[in-house]
This record gives sequence, structure tokens and C-alpha cells, in this order.
Amino acid sequence: KKRIAVMTSGGDSPGMCAAVRAVVRAGIYFDCEVFGCYEGYSGLVQGGDLLKPLVWEDVRGWLSLGGTLIGTARCQEFRERAGRLQGAKNMVLRGIDALIVCGGDGSLTGADLFRSEWPSLLDELVESGELTSEQVAPYRTLTIVGMVGSIDNDMAMTDNTIGAYSSLERICEMVDYIDTTAASHSRAFVVEVMGRHCGWLAIMAGVCCGADYVFVPEQPPSAANWREEMKKVCLRHRERGRRKTTVIVAEGAIDDELNPITSEQVKDSLVELGLDTRVTTLGHVQRGGTAVAFDRLLATMQGVEAVKAVLESTPDTPSPMIGIQENKVVHIPLVEAVKQTKAVAAAIERKDFEAAFKLRDAVFQE
Ligand code: F6P
Repeated sequence: KKRIAVMTSGGDSPGMCAAVRAVVRAGIYFDCEVFGCYEGYSGLVQGGDLLKPLVWEDVRGWLSLGGTLIGTARCQEFRERAGRLQGAKNMVLRGIDALIVCGGDGSLTGADLFRSEWPSLLDELVESGELTSEQVAPYRTLTIVGMVGSIDNDMAMTDNTIGAYSSLERICEMVDYIDTTAASHSRAFVVEVMGRHCGWLAIMAGVCCGADYVFVPEQPPSAANWREEMKKVCLRHRERGRRKTTVIVAEGAIDDELNPITSEQVKDSLVELGLDTRVTTLGHVQRGGTAVAFDRLLATMQGVEAVKAVLESTPDTPSPMIGIQENKVVHIPLVEAVKQTKAVAAAIERKDFEAAFKLRDAVFQE
């Protein structure tokens, strides 16, 4: 029986539990044994109870849950070769030679590196006498499959990451709450949202909540006059009778000289318009709570596909990332997707904002 380990890694996101559930149940359906790797890569390194079989009943009720019940961590030990050696040993001892990782680009890159290093790790384990050549012989190839779990929707070559729509839903609810008090007092609110270096959550929240103005990293306004531009737009809306002002600031917002645009700076400019202004930084409520229907669906479809990808993989298949493009679940070479994601950051750094915007997926550009 094929043995597959499933792990969640990096920042948690709603839908990760649904993804693990789908892997466990599809794995069992396709006659595999599935192991839960707890606490991200720490589960591989430490083994023991952190790398143990999961059965059908273990994931009962997980479809809608937020966060990840198998835990997640940023594992320092796995960054060192000694940690990866320990991880390889723990896997071989349990007969596991496939790993499905649900995480962000860092976690997925780590998994692909582990795969390329795998033969040399096994050789070293045999040379040092930790394992015998007979023990490692059946497991010479490691299969890696990635799924993207992140509220940021910041991975290239897939339209959506697991958790992004749940987070967007949470943001919209919060802005709706803010709107009622804002309109009552005729106030302005600066709402800061997460997304790291990606403006997807901010743009989508801006559209869904009818914000007056949005700041995102991929389309930075002019350092010389962004304040005046924003004030002009907000004032125009007020002159048309709007009783509230809402400006959404992505946490990674910058101007075209790459200076950060902070919520406090935005607030100061709105105060110059004579508006009674408050800042609300939404923080981790954006990452919490249950998964919306779309994330449950996305995680389930991708989890099933990830198991199929493990079963279809050959030593020559590049590690796939399971993504979604135009409503179809697709396999994308993991390395390519990570490369394109990094290209966005590089384009912003060299101030080629047009390229940065184009490199984001189609959904973002619409
Ligand atoms: O990547 C998800 C995310 O929530 C980002 O939006 C945010 O910048 C970051 O993680 C916060 O990380 P932490 O939970 O470690 O503070």
C-alpha cells in the first residue's frame, strides 16, 4: 500500500482542515495509507506521535473548520540538513515516500528541495549506519505534491489559494460593521487589511465594500501626490452626499518610490480634509473562523486531485502544485509557480509596476 503523509505549513488558512480531510479520505478510497504530519515540518523531524496514521473517522467534521487541526509551524530544524536527514529517516522507517504539503510558497519550495536532496539523504543515512540499504531500497524516490493554503492569494499560476475567500468574507463583514458607525457619525475609516506583499484582499474588499479608495503594493501611487489624489476622490464622494469615507490599505502598500504607505499617514491626510477619522487594523480576525463554501470546495477538489497526482507521478514528473484556473483544477509545475510568484516581488523592487500587475493572475487584474 502506498503511504502518503499530509502536512499543513506556514500561516494557517480556513480550508486547510478540509484539504487534509480530502487527502485522508481520497487516500483511503484509492487504497493508500495516509499519515498526518503534525506541526508542519517539525512532524517529519521529530517523528513519534507527530507522524501518525489518520483514518476516516479522524477527520470527521473537518470540512468547515478554520485553522488547521494538524497544526502548523515555521520549523527551523528542517532548514538544516541534519533536520532533513532526521525527516527522511522518520519517513523511511514508516514506509512513507510521498508528501502532500498545503502551505505557501516558502513551504512548497522547501518540499521540492527536500525531494531533490532525497537520494543523497538516503545515501548518507546508509553510510552513517542509521539505516540499511535494504531498508531504503523500496523508497528511493520521494513524491511531492503541493496545494496552496494562504489567505493572501499571492501564488502565481493559480486563480485562488485555499482560504482567500474566507478571509475576504471576514473583511467584508467587518467593513460592513464599521460602515454603520461611520455613517452614523459621518466619519472616515482607514481599514488596514492583510495580504503581505499582495493586494488581492485589499482590492477585492474595496470592490465588495464600495470603498472610496484602495492602496495596494502592485499599483503604487505617486510618492509626490498620492495624498492629494486620494483627498480629491474622497472629497468628490462627500460632495455627492456620501456620509462615510472608507479607505482600504493593504499592509504591504507602498508608493512609487517604494516607501511604505501606512494607515496613520492615510489618516493624517483625511484629517486635513476636516474628517473625523479612525484607523482599524483588522489583524488576525481575517485569518480566523470557518471556511466559506468556496474554500471547502476548492480544498476538497484539490485534496482529491493531490492524491491522484501522487499515484500518477513518476520519477521524471516535476513536483506538481494543484491549482485552479478558470474553474478547472489543474496541475502546475511547482517550481514554475514559485518562480513567477517571486518575479512579482522582483518587478516591484525594480519599480516595474506594470510587469508586477501583469504577473498577478487574471482574477486580480479584473
Ligand atoms: O500569509 C498570511 C498572513 O496572515 C499575512 O497576510 C500576514 O502578513 C502574515 O501572515 C502575518 O503573520 P503572523 O501570523 O506570523 O503574524
